[in-house]
Amino acid sequence: MLKSRDCGELTKANEGQHVILAGWVNRRRDHGGLIFLDLRDRSGVVQVVFNPEISQRAHATANEARSEYVLQVKGNVSLRPAGTENPKLTTGEVEVIAREVEILGPSKTPPFYISEEVEVEESLRLKYRYLDLRTARMQRNIILRHRVIKFMRDFLDEKGFLEIETPILIKSTPEGARDYLVPSRVHPGEFYALPQSPQQLKQLLMVAGFERYFQIARCFRDEDLRADRQPEFTQLDIEMSFADVDDILALMEELFTALVRKIAPDKQILSPFPRLTYAEALDKYGSDKPDLRYGLELTDISDLVADSGFMVFQTALAQGGQAKALVAPGCASYSRKEVDALIDLAKAQGAKGLVTLALVGGKQHEAFGRLSLDEVRSPLTKFFSTEQLAAIAQRTAANIGDLVLIVADQPKVVAAALSRLRSEIVARLRLADPQVFAFAFVTDFPLFEWNDSDKRWDSSHHPFTSPRDEDLPLIDTAPGKVLSKAYDLVCNGLELASGSIRIHRREVQEKIFERLGYTADDAAKRFGHMLEAFEYGPPPHGGIAPGIDRFVMLLAGEDTIRDVIAFPKTQSAADLMTGAPSSVSRDQLRDLHLSISD
Ligand code: AMO
Ligand code: AMP
Repeated sequence: MLKSRDCGELTKANEGQHVILAGWVNRRRDHGGLIFLDLRDRSGVVQVVFNPEISQRAHATANEARSEYVLQVKGNVSLRPAGTENPKLTTGEVEVIAREVEILGPSKTPPFYISEEVEVEESLRLKYRYLDLRTARMQRNIILRHRVIKFMRDFLDEKGFLEIETPILIKSTPEGARDYLVPSRVHPGEFYALPQSPQQLKQLLMVAGFERYFQIARCFRDEDLRADRQPEFTQLDIEMSFADVDDILALMEELFTALVRKIAPDKQILSPFPRLTYAEALDKYGSDKPDLRYGLELTDISDLVADSGFMVFQTALAQGGQAKALVAPGCASYSRKEVDALIDLAKAQGAKGLVTLALVGGKQHEAFGRLSLDEVRSPLTKFFSTEQLAAIAQRTAANIGDLVLIVADQPKVVAAALSRLRSEIVARLRLADPQVFAFAFVTDFPLFEWNDSDKRWDSSHHPFTSPRDEDLPLIDTAPGKVLSKAYDLVCNGLELASGSIRIHRREVQEKIFERLGYTADDAAKRFGHMLEAFEYGPPPHGGIAPGIDRFVMLLAGEDTIRDVIAFPKTQSAADLMTGAPSSVSRDQLRDLHLSISD
């Protein structure tokens, strides 16, 4: 090795030792006679001192070195003079007195500072990703990611899971996004698809008798990108035979609890992980991935506003809708402008509006738990008596000083609007404790979702998800009422993982395909291999797939998964460093039997 020690490991204990270091110039200070270079490698930073009286040559070379030069330094570890220690560095009590130095790799002036934690425009970071990855923050994130994956592998190995690779060039498998296609040279006009997930393959591995499978699996989806979505991302893909819902959820709870204890021991988790059904989650929080670090539950007040004469509510209820409320604690004093911003948020979610009820003045009668209102500010005062308004406050457990937010509409719209307001209020009031990881399981998702634009039923999860046994008869009569053996693991408002117990009976799978609108012919063409496999002793099985990028993002406290992926793509799926996607030569196109139409 060109180095005998790591920069970041040197402490008082190494005093007097001769060391050979290699790394990057993090910072350079010239103090007249002495030159100080902070030398950085993956382990950290140590100060190196160049004194012309010790080595004229080394001092002269250090004089040429600039930020991000790669140097090899030979010298002795020495205690820093009293009063010059740096308590912020683990190596802050020592420095290395250089005797020799060699420039191993000079550097141009980098396009941004690496040594300082300053905001750099993301496109610049992505273009020079190899420099961005040198920053302490990104090194931390990528190392954290390694540790998470290593933990997952070891944990599952202990539990008898086998890591099995599955192909990247496959036949299209539906997960609800568009496929990335790869044209075949040998089969003109035919395409492979990159896996949206190894879903079918892992099920076939169960038919093959492996019983417990996992894979750190790359998935590819051509979909609209967001902070927590990349066109290629990584799942911890898991499948188990002879397991039911509880077995898979127990495995997840054990894995994530152990993982957080080991890797982020300062974080608190709710234990056991709460479980709520999809219907409960939507009812209480308006979301199937609720953030459970705080309460702020939604309350149905439809019955309290039914006969108010307020047309907005009347109309919504008459059309089969509902009225629900959310309490923003201590927000009664919100200005017109602050309230309008909330109304805009509700409207952006499809609500027609938002009614606020500000409980400005009054008394909470401790003994009876009753509220008497002296002063309220609300468009409702024209239609509701003070007693009626007090009843709303009472039902929602609002107090004097609170602002009640009410939306009336179809349940879907009410949920979307109030869930959005719930996260807004929490952000404004800083109610979410960053030290808490509130894991929870959401279960009993509907099996189908009505696709209104195409007028057909789609799978909510994917078509291999098993309906609950008791709901099988509803597939024909009331598809919207069929609940599934699908579950999600959520954490702090993010969907971390999805999975389900699968269908393993051919006739049930066929029925689902039929319900989804596939003709027997279509189904055979697309999924014949699955249907056929199910004719050869398929074991009952199920699985789940946590998104690794999302979990590492949470652990790292980052806002986007791009910050925990070494080489991510932009929101428009471009790689700014290599310039992908890019055009290809005519010859390549000809080989693939393709031509570009404009
Ligand atoms: P699903 O499609 O819900 O399930 O994906 C599982 C998990 O993968 C993560 N994820 C993503 N992460 C980053 N970018 C994306 N574009 C992206 N899409 C999904 C999420 C999500 O919870 N085969 C099934 C799993 C199963 O049934 O076992 C599947 O892929 O964290
Ligand atoms: P409008 O009659 O449309 O002027 O609305 C009167 C008030 O009711 C305004 O404050 C709107 O923001 C609010 N509003 C309108 N529709 C709804 C709705 N569906 N739910 C809650 N508030 C609404």
